[in-house]
Amino acid sequence: MSKGIFITATGTDAGKTFVTALLVKKLRQAGYNAGYYKAALSGALRKAGQLIPGDAQYVKQTAGIDTPLEQMVSYIYETAVSPHLAGELEGNPVELETVLRDYKAACGLHDYLTVEGSGGILCPIRRDMYMLEDLIKAMGLDVLIVAPAGLGTINDTILTIEYARQRCIGVKGVILNWFHPGDMMEEDNRGFLEAYTGVPVIACVQEGDTDVDVDPAVLAELYQ
Ligand SMILES: Nc1ncnc2c1ncn2[C@@H]1O[C@H](COP(=O)(O)OP(=O)(O)OP(=O)(O)O)[C@@H](O)[C@H]1O
Ligand SMILES: [Mg+2]
Repeated sequence: MSKGIFITATGTDAGKTFVTALLVKKLRQAGYNAGYYKAALSGALRKAGQLIPGDAQYVKQTAGIDTPLEQMVSYIYETAVSPHLAGELEGNPVELETVLRDYKAACGLHDYLTVEGSGGILCPIRRDMYMLEDLIKAMGLDVLIVAPAGLGTINDTILTIEYARQRCIGVKGVILNWFHPGDMMEEDNRGFLEAYTGVPVIACVQEGDTDVDVDPAVLAELYQ
């Protein structure tokens, strides 16, 4: 029976893909059959006429996943806007059934599936129908939240945690990205977030890290 976790963030470009690649790599190096799935990706580059899902390609390469890219992403949009708008502009809006079908297929290939969201938790996926939170709920997953470390991190992270909780989405942990160990404010952010929300900061990732400092068995336990 496959287990999964959903990676969301305090916003777009927070480092979801970068962190996800390290988490999947960590699990795979420890011998877990770990894979990756993303429902909708915007701003894909076109190479030789073909749209390349950059996030999936990065995680595949970094973590050494042999699954074909086509099985890792359901909707690949060239337009670099939110999926709800890209889907309209390109005449290919997200269908929940397609996402769930592909998600289940990815579950069938891996024991530990890491699902990357688009943008932050309130990213619109399809106008008047689905926000990202609806996909998380339809998949029945808990979340990890990636938050860039710095000024404003406490506000952004608590807003995301509280919103998830209000929508009955379980929050398993926070990962601080672009963290500077020893930085007084960032160290305080970590302690404050844990004390205020009760959510553990499971890892702090620094600029250019090629490994994430988390016990793979502890990480695997977060998947459900
Ligand atoms: N710790 C880091 N060290 C170096 N580069 C990083 C780090 N974290 C993120 N980046 C870089 O910052 C950019 C944004 O990160 P990333 O693509 O992971 O964000 P994202 O949250 O997945 O964005 P999206 O919402 O578009 O999926 C990328 O170029 C990525 O390689
Ligand atoms: Mg990404």
